[in-house]
Amino acid sequence: MKAMKVLLIGAHGRTGRHVARRLHEEGIPFRALLRKSAHKSEFAALGAEIVLGDLTHDFSHALDDITHVVYAAGSAESEGVSEERDIDRDAVMRTADYAKRRRVRQLVVVSALSAYQPQRSPLALRHYSRMKREADDYVARRGVPYTILRPGPLSDAPGRGTIALADERVEQMPAVSREDVAQVAMRCLLLGVTNRTIGFVGGDEPIDDALDAPAAATA
Ligand SMILES: NC(=O)c1ccc[n+]([C@@H]2O[C@H](COP(=O)([O-])OP(=O)(O)OC[C@H]3O[C@@H](n4cnc5c(N)ncnc54)[C@H](OP(=O)(O)O)[C@@H]3O)[C@@H](O)[C@H]2O)c1
Repeated sequence: MKAMKVLLIGAHGRTGRHVARRLHEEGIPFRALLRKSAHKSEFAALGAEIVLGDLTHDFSHALDDITHVVYAAGSAESEGVSEERDIDRDAVMRTADYAKRRRVRQLVVVSALSAYQPQRSPLALRHYSRMKREADDYVARRGVPYTILRPGPLSDAPGRGTIALADERVEQMPAVSREDVAQVAMRCLLLGVTNRTIGFVGGDEPIDDALDAPAAATA
């Protein structure tokens, strides 16, 4: 079997950077997809290969020789419905298509907790949540081993190595740190956790214990 090589989409994002650092620490070869060449040196310093690409265009070349993909990109909070459609839905779907063609062994997508029930999101988040949900549904059907992560609100607090599983019924939504989201993505890669949708918020359960729990597997 081909040795693991990860494509990290959205590497320069706040969560993506934590994933990049963890991949480097684990000694896992990876390629960072960036849209700005000014960001290259930061990832070259972590030993990453760099590929430049814009997610609104064809980026299939980024998946050459890749065995695993982490999609950590997203539309910025201030952007509008077209960016949400392009980045939170269409580019995720295209990633799944590219991954299927190349027989990628695992696609990890950072989605959002609100994708469980988009219609219950506050109005300002409803379209975003719907795009996330449509992307998730497509990924789950596409025939690539997948891991859909649905974190609640994110923070930049230091990681704690712990989370709390959550689903659409959650009423308390403690923020989860981006560093912990990155750690969940890493553990899913390293443990080969596939064909699961994992909703979570900030909490006190060690990440590996949470990933072991049957409640982590939801349709
Ligand atoms: N904010 C929350 O509370 C929350 C809650 C749950 C889930 N999420 C989801 O969690 C994920 C990570 O969020 P985050 O806040 O860590 O992300 P972020 O810091 O906003 O980073 C997003 C990344 O996506 C990249 N990107 C956007 N459009 C692109 C394009 N056209 N081509 C190439 N790259 C593009 C950006 O590139 P540049 O660096 O070049 O700008 C950036 O690196 C996202 O999917 C987000 O929707 C967020």
